[in-house]
Amino acid sequence: MNRILIQETPQHIGETVKLCGWVDVRRDHGKLIFIDLRDMSGKVQMIILPNHAEAHQVAQTLRCEWVIEVTGQVNTRPEKLVNKEQPNGAIEIEVLSINILNEAETPPFDVTSDGKEINEEVRLKYRYLDLRRERMQRNLRMRDKVITFFREYMHGENFVEIETPLLMKGTPEGSREYLVPSRLEKGRFYALPQSPQQYKQLCMVAGFERYFQIARCMRDEDLRGDRQPEFTQLDYEMSFVTQEDVLRFTEKMFVEMVQKLFPEKHISQVPFPRLTYKESMEKYGSDKPDLRQDKNNPNELAFAWIVDFPMFEKTDDGTIQAAHHPFCSIKEEDVEKFMQGEDLFNIRANSYDLVLNGYELSSGSIRIHKREIQKQVFKLLDISEEEQKEKFGHMLEAFTYGAPPHGGFAPGIDRIVMLLMGEPNIREVIAFPKTGEGRELMTKSPSKVSPKQLIELGLRVVTEPKTDK
Ligand code: AMO
Repeated sequence: MNRILIQETPQHIGETVKLCGWVDVRRDHGKLIFIDLRDMSGKVQMIILPNHAEAHQVAQTLRCEWVIEVTGQVNTRPEKLVNKEQPNGAIEIEVLSINILNEAETPPFDVTSDGKEINEEVRLKYRYLDLRRERMQRNLRMRDKVITFFREYMHGENFVEIETPLLMKGTPEGSREYLVPSRLEKGRFYALPQSPQQYKQLCMVAGFERYFQIARCMRDEDLRGDRQPEFTQLDYEMSFVTQEDVLRFTEKMFVEMVQKLFPEKHISQVPFPRLTYKESMEKYGSDKPDLRQDKNNPNELAFAWIVDFPMFEKTDDGTIQAAHHPFCSIKEEDVEKFMQGEDLFNIRANSYDLVLNGYELSSGSIRIHKREIQKQVFKLLDISEEEQKEKFGHMLEAFTYGAPPHGGFAPGIDRIVMLLMGEPNIREVIAFPKTGEGRELMTKSPSKVSPKQLIELGLRVVTEPKTDK
């Protein structure tokens, strides 16, 4: 007999079926034993009667989270025992035989609750158990649906998904990079991508015109509830587009995604309101204002566009840096100042953010596609000719071979799913996240490496880890 899923059981009333899964709850009433069985599709109540003696004996030994295979008859429950609250509340399985596939230790915490009451460090240490809970299953399955929606939407709009390297030369997105030592060229390092920014622009030079990627990004920055050292972007880039084209395209995609996957949610304003960076700062004191009318309404989604970000900003030590990244083009009205190198902190870029309920969901811009303009940005950023060539020579060169005008965007998938699932932090929508200290508690990374590995890589550790965590 083939195993069926619990969600299929209502179509098999009166038939004998085989089910596999985990013991969610066991209630032993002596003669009658009840077991809620759980598989990837849901839960169903099973009843073990004393007249099926062998099954009854096995059922007495079962404990929570044991893995079992059951054959049983699907019965409708008597009217007064129907549980309308539960998906399979109108049926139960009369168990004929039970085969124990694996026993389980008592879990360190309850996996049937929503988990919010449990210490997060313990949850992360036993993440494979934590993920069994309904809330986490729902979050990760919804995340998959969101990614699938975007992927299909992009393909439907003629985008091609292109994988760009993870081992690469650094790209400036304002954070520290994670470095990977090269074994073959000792003393040299790859950087892990903070984003696929440069490669996606090079895909435009390569003539793809519409690129996208569900891109993993790595940034070594201080962590917060909406930040992880590794995260995922829906990264895209388009050629021959204006800022208006990117905004409209994105807005339509987001509205359709919400309508299709989260029909219970309500978007406060469509088209999304637009504010300049200056207006947003003056009016709300923030470049990610929370424009919800009712902050207690879990179904309200207040999207907004923030446009005309400054191109440059002052760092804490008084030096200049690109406010977003150095590849943004300059607003027509400010080009003269830019070329003259005057009034730098009032030069605006063709760059835009999408915000939702007070969070930055995404950033993007229309890019520079001309070598001389790109060089002017580098010059204003005090990047010497030599350093330009060393770090960005490939971009400057690519722009001399027929680079089309282009622009793009990169919504953060983790933040989108967090907000749509009503979760307080992105760790709740990431299968195996890191703690605030950047540790992955289950496999215990980062970890020490053997002296042999260090020698192979030509490395020496000068600061030993403080503890052996
Ligand atoms: P930016 O650096 O603004 O732009 O990132 C875009 C979006 O990525 C998400 N994000 C993060 N999510 C979780 N943890 C993090 N540490 C983290 N950092 C960023 C956010 C953010 O809005 N290359 C440009 C995009 C472009 O210009 O097209 C870029 O990466 O949701």
